[in-house]
Amino acid sequence: MTADQLRDKYLKFFESKGHKIISGASLIPENDPTVLFTTAGMHPLVPFLLGEPHPAGKRLTDVQKCVRTGDIEAVGDTSHLTFFEMLGNWSLGDYFKKEAITWSYEFLTSKEYLGFDPARLSVTVFEGEGNVPKDEESIAYWQALGIPTERIHALPKDDNWWGPAGQTGPCGPDTEMFIDTGKVACAPTCRPGCRCGKYLEIWNDVFMQYNKTADGRYEPLKQANVDTGMGVERTICMLQGRASVFETELFAPLMAKITELSTTPPADAAIVQRAQRIIADHLRTATFILGDPKGGVKPGNLGANYVLRRLIRRAVRYAKVLGIGPGFARTLAELVIANYAHVYPELHQHSETIVGELAAEEERFEKTLTSGQREFDKISTALKTHGQTTISGRTAFKLYDTYGFPLEMTEELAAEQGLSVDRAGFDEAFKKHQETSKQGDKAFKGGLADNTDATTRLHTATHLLHKALQIVLGAHAQQKGSNITPERLRFDFTHPDKMTPEQLAEVEQIVNTQIQRNLPISLETMTIEDARARGATALFAAKYGEQVKVYAAGDFSQEVCGGPHAATTGELGKFKIQKEESSSAGVRRIRAVLE
Ligand code: ALA
Repeated sequence: MTADQLRDKYLKFFESKGHKIISGASLIPENDPTVLFTTAGMHPLVPFLLGEPHPAGKRLTDVQKCVRTGDIEAVGDTSHLTFFEMLGNWSLGDYFKKEAITWSYEFLTSKEYLGFDPARLSVTVFEGEGNVPKDEESIAYWQALGIPTERIHALPKDDNWWGPAGQTGPCGPDTEMFIDTGKVACAPTCRPGCRCGKYLEIWNDVFMQYNKTADGRYEPLKQANVDTGMGVERTICMLQGRASVFETELFAPLMAKITELSTTPPADAAIVQRAQRIIADHLRTATFILGDPKGGVKPGNLGANYVLRRLIRRAVRYAKVLGIGPGFARTLAELVIANYAHVYPELHQHSETIVGELAAEEERFEKTLTSGQREFDKISTALKTHGQTTISGRTAFKLYDTYGFPLEMTEELAAEQGLSVDRAGFDEAFKKHQETSKQGDKAFKGGLADNTDATTRLHTATHLLHKALQIVLGAHAQQKGSNITPERLRFDFTHPDKMTPEQLAEVEQIVNTQIQRNLPISLETMTIEDARARGATALFAAKYGEQVKVYAAGDFSQEVCGGPHAATTGELGKFKIQKEESSSAGVRRIRAVLE
């Protein structure tokens, strides 16, 4: 059975049970700030689930496009997707558990409809919590239909409770239907809900009896509703006996094209398969978002725009893994459009926007991906060499700001290396950046964006220089002033005599050695007393007990300082002193550059 046939059969079946067929809604929710995308068929129906009369009546059925990114990490297995089509039937205060369960069973097993062998079917129900009791009623209906007790599992709220779609709204216990894929169970305790792949959830009947309020309470709804959702991709996968949704006709042309475009697939077949699936999934989702009739979502840095950007950039990164060259996003989007335009004509209508936006975003990211990856590798090597496990928020922000790496991508790359990312630190850096760029917009109209990195690196070099001077000349060599432009640093320090050429060469050499060591720059906040006790150089007067930031370049130097700094010393390049001269009595001045 094809997806086209499944949609058709489903709608006809529920039509025969007195339901009106209604159109699916836009992927981009109307007037609802609680979610970025339509995540389920019930979502556009929320007002009616809350009691408003629906113009088409109390029994409705439809096919709804959905985007969910909560499970994005799972994409790459046999069944998880960020975009999917959901078949749904609703009772708005009309029928309840008995009819919902009986019709689900009939549609699944009747030869006229899906014809699944009932022996492959298992179900789950809500085990109860607080004032909501175990769903004995649903258990009894399933038993009456012939499902043996050992294939009816009562599970907790995490598994068998649905909603609300946003922060507040209709929700309730559910009963879920699983098909036994025929795989060997991962353990004797394996049961529906286990992620090993033996049981695939294809349908969920939700019994919406409650409304979750803004203060977190569950109050009974005016009317008891039924909300169901059957996944098109998963169901045809089971009906066609395929090993994964990516082998159905909804993905096959995409997967074939991805294979054809791959020039350097890694030897490990599992890595290749995962990358192919991620690319196919993400670009299909991006195509549907860009092709939505409501429109308005473009790759960007906030909200839904950011989700779209993340999907496209993640696809580009995995395309690199397979050696797929530039321009592929457009090629794949054209295949998605061709594959779906007969069901979703909006894709065809918006094809120019879809391919144009995809190509532009791919190109934008291509420009920085390779250098960003190199930067990331340097950072992770430096951290590991020094036994550290956390990428600082600032570094993650730099990867975001300079190289266009979505935070989640940095987290994913980090996890592959056994590292984590300081998310709170990232948020802080992000906020700070927004504040300074607001001021910056006013201050430099010409836009000196690219210079920020150069000055940051020179600032880090200043710390290394300061420490090197103290090593070579003695502890009296204290900073008296510092001035940095994007081209050079200038550093004033106390020392009575002109420095000899040997001393200058030695200072240069020490700094370059620390650069070659590729030391991570770490940041800690502590009281000024603690900073001094640790031996950090503190140039500025601070009040007793004041919290200060201490930047450390590996084990080489520690300084109380406001930042910002490079992520690692390795980024600095080659340090070169251009001039040493007198500044004022007892104060010398060094001018230096990074090459
Ligand atoms: N709203 C239910 C779900 O999305 C049907 O699973």
